[in-house]
Amino acid sequence: MDIEDFLTAEEAEDIAMRVVTLRHLWVDRNDVFYTLGASAYIDDGFVYQSLAVAYNPIIVKYFASLIGKVSERFPDCTTYQDIMLPSFHILGSKCNGHQASIHRDLSYEKLFGKEIDEHLSFTVPISIPECGAGLNIIEGEYVPYEVGKIYMHSGQETHQIAQRGDMADSEFRITLQGHIATVNGVPYLYF
Ligand SMILES: [Fe+2]
Repeated sequence: MDIEDFLTAEEAEDIAMRVVTLRHLWVDRNDVFYTLGASAYIDDGFVYQSLAVAYNPIIVKYFASLIGKVSERFPDCTTYQDIMLPSFHILGSKCNGHQASIHRDLSYEKLFGKEIDEHLSFTVPISIPECGAGLNIIEGEYVPYEVGKIYMHSGQETHQIAQRGDMADSEFRITLQGHIATVNGVPYLYF
């Protein structure tokens, strides 16, 4: 896991406020958690593409400086209007008592096929509840998250969103999520 500073506390707070303000646009995922738009690991085919086309302009409009920072950190990435830009996972108190899935990040297979050169997954914690947030690496260590840092890994070690306790009804665990799949030497940015 590579960890770097990415956002100031003020920037993260501003982004969290924007995400919460856009609550009417959150995509409900089985009444447990939300995304702001498409996610390749959940959505397939036409649904994925439609959500991406609908939500990419929203991401660009409300989170321009954040996407700018992502582009600075990962220059020369290719984007498409029907491939979802990095966006948000939003977990609230409805997650209390639920176990997150234990998985590897293989959603690139749906978009680009199994044969890719390289894969990177990144997470930027935007808002962390009182009980904390982090990532369980199943054959490694627990990685505690700090707001504003960027956590980068291949996504190919089995991992799981860590449940550190219950969230209050007023709290949200918000993370920016993105991936980069390099295919035939071309890096594609997606969620
Ligand atoms: Fe993952």
